[in-house]
Amino acid sequence: MKVHKPYVIFEEKDHSFIWLGLDESDAEKGVLTNQYLIRDGEKGAILDAGGYFVFERVLNSVQEFLKPENISLLLFSHQDPDVVGALNLWVDVAPNAQIYVSELWERFLPHLGQEVSEKINEIPDMGMRIPFGSSFIEAIPAHFLHSPGNFHFYDPISRGYFSGDMGAAIFPKGTWYLIVEDFEEHAKLMEAFHRRYIPSRKAIELWLNRIRGLQIDFIAPQHGSVFQGDNVKKFLQWMSSLDKVGLDLLTF
Ligand SMILES: [Fe+2]
Ligand SMILES: [Fe+2]
Repeated sequence: MKVHKPYVIFEEKDHSFIWLGLDESDAEKGVLTNQYLIRDGEKGAILDAGGYFVFERVLNSVQEFLKPENISLLLFSHQDPDVVGALNLWVDVAPNAQIYVSELWERFLPHLGQEVSEKINEIPDMGMRIPFGSSFIEAIPAHFLHSPGNFHFYDPISRGYFSGDMGAAIFPKGTWYLIVEDFEEHAKLMEAFHRRYIPSRKAIELWLNRIRGLQIDFIAPQHGSVFQGDNVKKFLQWMSSLDKVGLDLLTF
C-alpha cells in the first residue's frame, strides 16, 4: 500500500488548490477519502477535512504549505463521519478557523463532543459566498446529492469545483489513481455509488441547472479521482444520463 504526497492541482501567483495526499492503507479503515486545501496568500481553507484516521496525514500535508493557525476556513459539504469525524481535532490545531456547514447540520455537530457553536456559520439552503483571502469561495447548493443539506464549493480563481460525494469512485484494491484518464472505464467505478446514494433524479437536475454557466476547469471529489479538461463535461453528462437512482431502484 502506497503513500502519496500532496499534489498541487492549480497554482497562480499566491493562490493554489492542493490535493492533500493519500495513504492507501487507510482503505483498511473505510472508503478512501480526498481532502483539499485552497491557499490564498498565507490563508488556507480546508474542504471536507475528513475522519479521525486521516487527521494526522492531512495535518502533516497542510503544514507543507501553511501554518495551521492560518487556516481560516473549515468547509464541510455535509455531516457524514468521513467528512466531519476529526472536527474536534481540527478545532484544537486551527484555533482561528471558522466552520461552515448547512443550516440543517449545525445543531448536530456539537455531538462530536466539542463546543463549537461560536465558530459555526450556517450556510442557508440557497448557498452563499464565503469571504476568503482576497476573494471568496462559493457554497453551491447540491441538496440530496447525497445529504438533504449538502453543498459543493467553487473557487472562482482556480475555477476548481469541489463536488463532495458526487464523482465518488470506489476502487478495487491497489488500483487507485489521482487524475481520471479513461472516463468510460472510470465511470464503471462510480455507477453503483451514485445509483444508490442519490435519492432522486430531480436532485441531479436541480443541481445541473444551478451550475450551468459556471466556468469549471476541474472537478475534485471527496472520493475517487479528479476530472480535468474534457472529462469535466463528460462527468456532468454522465450525471445527467443516470436515468434511475435511489427511490427508482428500491425493491424491498
Ligand atoms: Fe457522504
Ligand atoms: Fe464521503
